[in-house]
Amino acid sequence: IASHLLAYYFTELHHDQVQKVDKFLYHLRLSDENLMDVSKRFRREMDRGLGRDTNPTAAVKMLPTFVRSTPDGTEKGDFLALDLGGTNFRVLLVKVSDNGKQKVEMENQIYAIPEGLMRGSGTQLFDHIAECLANFMDKLGIKDRKLPLGFTFSFPCQQTKLDESFLVTWTKGFKCSGVEGKDVVDLLRKAIKKRGDFDIDIVAVINDTVGTMMTCGYDDHHCEIGLIIGTGTNACYMEEMRNLELVEGDEGRMCVNMEWGAFGDDGALDDLRTEFDREIDAGSLNPGKQLFEKMISGMYMGELVRLILVKMAKEGLVFQGKVTADLLTTGHFKTSYVSDIESERDKEGLLNAEKVLRDLGLNPTGEDCIITQRVCQVVSTRAAHLCAASLAAVLRQIRDNKAADRLRTTIGVDGSVYKNHPHFARRLHKMVRLLVPDCDVRFLRSEDGSGKGAAMVTAVAHRLATQHAQ
Ligand code: GLC
Repeated sequence: IASHLLAYYFTELHHDQVQKVDKFLYHLRLSDENLMDVSKRFRREMDRGLGRDTNPTAAVKMLPTFVRSTPDGTEKGDFLALDLGGTNFRVLLVKVSDNGKQKVEMENQIYAIPEGLMRGSGTQLFDHIAECLANFMDKLGIKDRKLPLGFTFSFPCQQTKLDESFLVTWTKGFKCSGVEGKDVVDLLRKAIKKRGDFDIDIVAVINDTVGTMMTCGYDDHHCEIGLIIGTGTNACYMEEMRNLELVEGDEGRMCVNMEWGAFGDDGALDDLRTEFDREIDAGSLNPGKQLFEKMISGMYMGELVRLILVKMAKEGLVFQGKVTADLLTTGHFKTSYVSDIESERDKEGLLNAEKVLRDLGLNPTGEDCIITQRVCQVVSTRAAHLCAASLAAVLRQIRDNKAADRLRTTIGVDGSVYKNHPHFARRLHKMVRLLVPDCDVRFLRSEDGSGKGAAMVTAVAHRLATQHAQ
């Protein structure tokens, strides 16, 4: 290893090589002006999504969540939570106790969802979810209790109240038949009823962004934005009711699930998308949809790098013009490799690049490793900067709502890309501060927002419901 390390210290790209590589990657590098422009476009999309007349044709749907308040610290009780739509499917038991100071304890269990189920029939999917729930309750010996449950379902849903949620369209790796247009609460209730071995009280359906905002809001009362950069990407924020033309009433605020992954689905980003973005889209489960998400999130990042390397090889820029069957296979360049290759310590990243490339059957030179690292940097930086651009638009919207000169706010964040990539968070923060210098933004990592968040929303709803009943 030491001799390899040494080799990398002395390997540098030749000037004309640098030029060729940079020219190749040119369209993937967005200038500050580009990003400012993207931010403005996104702000317009937000307005279109919020407006009654423009919403039907808007790409960014700005979905009302019916979450109007954050926890006030008096909630207590035992709650079940389901988390579907991220890297894992999980069932959780969350115990919120209130002996002077509120405390949250959790038990959770990860269950696999086989790929066949992710793309099979909706009935099979919901039967499986009910079965996992039964198994979990059995294990904890709580099958005889009818507990309130919060369901984190991280897909675009049209909600009319907290416990009614119609799936608009599947995103990411899911595509089950017979669920789009249906109320997922109803589907889950039916699947549980069919079994007949336990009963629960489904109180709330929430998006993972909302859960993230709620858990962070618990620790920091300035938190009014939830952000996810994981398998998919999306954000929510607290909007003034008067701006939410789709919901009755003008008083107070409501959390809006923006579904920003769909930004660009109407062509708004076509000038910035590259041939690689088009290729990713064409080969995806949902062509023409989630175009912004496909430029950013973990489900696509490694694949983008792979497609770029394939083309570079074909043009003779890397690997002496050779490709291997592995390099040519969809999904064989994992997003986690991007993190490995951009490792904190540069030279370690290069060693990782060498290992990754060898595992793909290639025989890389030092230059090949450096170029691969460069490709990873360009792709992940573009992703971070695009997120910063849309986030900047949200910050301006909130600032304008408050008619404040400076905004002080907190963003709750979660997701594998944000948490695992060695430079993503820093690049995102830096660009947000550059794009909106007049905001003091705090980024707060959420701890298990999707799980705990669902329980928190459920706890709040439960508290309000029991208060009303008294
Ligand atoms: C996808 C989903 C969205 C979710 C995001 C992050 O964009 O459509 O609902 O919040 O992924 O998981």
